[in-house]
Amino acid sequence: MTALSGMDHGSVLRTADPPASFTMWRYRELLPVPDGPIRYPLPIGGTPLLPAPALRQAWGMPHLWLKDETRNPTASNKDRATALVIEDGLRRGIGTITTASTGNAAVATAFGAAAAGMRAAIFVSTGCRPEKLALMTQAGARVFRVPAGYAAAVDLSRAAARTFGWLDRNTGANPLTLEAKKTVAFEVWEQLGRRVPDVLLAPVGDGPTLVALDMGFAELERRGLATRRPRLIGVQARHCQPLVRAWLGEPVGAAELDPGATIADGIAVVRPAIGDAVLEAVRRGGGAMVAVTDEALRDAVSTLAATAGVGAEPAGAAALAGLATAVEHGLVDPQETAVLLVTGREVTAGGPADPGRVAVVETLDEVERAMAGG
Ligand SMILES: Cc1ncc(COP(=O)(O)O)c(C=O)c1O
Repeated sequence: MTALSGMDHGSVLRTADPPASFTMWRYRELLPVPDGPIRYPLPIGGTPLLPAPALRQAWGMPHLWLKDETRNPTASNKDRATALVIEDGLRRGIGTITTASTGNAAVATAFGAAAAGMRAAIFVSTGCRPEKLALMTQAGARVFRVPAGYAAAVDLSRAAARTFGWLDRNTGANPLTLEAKKTVAFEVWEQLGRRVPDVLLAPVGDGPTLVALDMGFAELERRGLATRRPRLIGVQARHCQPLVRAWLGEPVGAAELDPGATIADGIAVVRPAIGDAVLEAVRRGGGAMVAVTDEALRDAVSTLAATAGVGAEPAGAAALAGLATAVEHGLVDPQETAVLLVTGREVTAGGPADPGRVAVVETLDEVERAMAGG
C-alpha cells in the first residue's frame, strides 16, 4: 500500500470541478488548430481577472476588473499570438520565425522560438529599449535594427518571410495573431460568470489587441452565448495618437505622431497595421478612442502597483490611464462592469545585449548574410 492510498485526500482531490488554472488552448476548438497534441511548450493565457478591491474603492467603481495579461510567460499579451503562430509553424515544419515589433512581440517571439526549437529573426527600430534587446539576444534570437524606423522594420521582416520562406508573425499581417488574441474575450466572459462586461478598455498600437477582443465577443454573440457586445475604448498616448484623431475626425499634428516622445513605447505606432479595423470595432460596439498624457501613464503604473499589486509598463497601464479620461467625459459610468486590459510589465535582462547577435540592416542581402552566420 502506498502512503497516498491510505490518506484522506481532502476535498480538493475529490471535487469534480474543473481546475481553476487553464491555458489559451482551453478554446482550441474555436481556434484554427488541427487535431493532435499541442506542441507549443509554454503555458499561455488563462490569466487572472482581478477584482482589485483597493482600486475599486479608490475609484468608486464597485464592478471594476483588471485582466492581468502580464502573467503570460514573457509578461505581455503578445505571448498568445506568438504561441498560435509557432504552433502553426511547428505543424508545417518551418524552422525560422520573423517579426517586427516595438518590443514586446519581439521578446515573446524570441522566447517562444527558443522554447520551440526555432530560429528567430527580429526586426526593431533603432529606438527599441536596450533591456528588451538584451532579452531577445539572451533567448538566442538574431536582432536586426532598422534605422528607418518601425514601419521599415515591418516591411523588411515581411519581405524576409516571403523571400526565405520564414514564418511571418507580423501583427495584423498574420490572421493567427488575431485568432489567438480573441481568447482574451472568451476568458473575460467565462471569468465574469459567462457574462460580457459593459465596457472594456485596452491600449492600441497596431490594433490587433482591440480588434481581436471585438472578434471574440462577436463570436460569443454568434454562438448564442451572449446577447450583446461590450463597448470597447481604445487608448493611445497623446504623443502618438493617429487613431484618436481619426476617430474624432480631426487632423493629426506632428507632435501627436512622435513615437520617441512618449514613455509608452509599446503603443507608439505612427501607421497602425489595422487602424481602420480598430475604428470599425470601436464604432460597432458604441465605444470611443481616448488619448492620455505621459503623466497619466506614469500615475497609472504607480496606481496599479499601489492599489492592485500589479506591475505594468506604461503602455501596459494605458487602460487605467484612459479610464480617468473616459469617466470624465461620460464614456464610462462608475457603476458599470468595466474591464481594464493590463497588457505588459516592465522587463529586465540582467545584462546587456550580445552584440554578436545584433546588426543594423537596411536590405535583405544584409539579413541573409547575418543569418548564414548562425
Ligand atoms: C504593452 C503593450 N500594450 C499594448 C500593445 C498594443 O497592442 P496592439 O499592437 O495589438 O494594438 C502593445 C504592442 O506592442 C504593447 O507592447
